[in-house]
Amino acid sequence: MRLVIDTDLGMGTAGADPEDGLAILYALRSPSVSLEGLTLVHGNVPVSHSWPNARRLLDLAGRADIALHAGERGPRDPLRRRLQAGWLAARGSPSGGTPDDTPPPATATEFLREIVVGSPGEITIAAIGPLTNVAAAVESDPGFAGALAGLVVMGGTVAVPGNITPAAEFNIWMDPEAASIVFDSGSPITMAGLDVCHRTHLDRAQTAQAGASGTRLAEFVAQACDAWIDVRAGLLEGDEDLHLYDTLAVAAAIAPDLLDYIDALVEVETSTGPAQGMTVTHTNATLRRLLTGREANARVAIGVDTGRFERLFAERVMAGL
Ligand code: RIB
Ligand code: CA
Repeated sequence: MRLVIDTDLGMGTAGADPEDGLAILYALRSPSVSLEGLTLVHGNVPVSHSWPNARRLLDLAGRADIALHAGERGPRDPLRRRLQAGWLAARGSPSGGTPDDTPPPATATEFLREIVVGSPGEITIAAIGPLTNVAAAVESDPGFAGALAGLVVMGGTVAVPGNITPAAEFNIWMDPEAASIVFDSGSPITMAGLDVCHRTHLDRAQTAQAGASGTRLAEFVAQACDAWIDVRAGLLEGDEDLHLYDTLAVAAAIAPDLLDYIDALVEVETSTGPAQGMTVTHTNATLRRLLTGREANARVAIGVDTGRFERLFAERVMAGL
């Protein structure tokens, strides 16, 4: 399959969420995947961080040949999303980067449009950060959504509490306007949200095992994961687990039968109130038609074969560093 990953790669930024990096490694180590490119979006870290982070990860993985495109630097509506813009600004400059690691002008939208519209029915996007780049690509060409083979969104939640606010999952909360555009676009969306991602785990025993091989890549990955587990332990009062959010979404893009789904209408709350970024998911078709007059716009993951996924993750990522 031909896959593009749209990512807010924090691996490489001290104390940032490294999990996008594991997802990228999973794709690189999946035999059926041709990874056509990475597009970078703001999120865990600004693009000024994810650019050097991505170059470092691809270099350590021996895949500096993968196309890399900088993308949107902040949410679509920064005046409405001051909190999110502030989150990005607080990250400051990347540490450890070299002067030529400054990201070039954004080409992610153009890349996404050209590859998707130029190869109808062939390209799947795994969107594992805020949906700003994907929304821009949707709006750049009326044929974009219909030309996608698939769009797996790591984001949202149906029935479990949010992870950035009680109502919202982080990626959707960072740019609700973009998420709303994408869910309303007619794209063939699979939503892999917290309902399934929170059933996956990565703990210190696994990261110790990963680091044991002693390669530069293994040490880089293990250190990044351990530092993030420490951050989470402080934030979440004892919940030391790292959830494999992005890796599960990429794995589902490659092998959809890892997950169970229901068809649903997903509406995104774009207010600036406490529910901003909530994914209001209508699962009852009768009520949905009666109350909204709308059909389903996504297949929403509600179950996961955790054992099979964690075996694949161990084989493809942790054992191969
Ligand atoms: O809510 C989970 C998402 O936000 C993932 O994409 C992860 O990278 C985190 O930052
Ligand atoms: Ca992410």
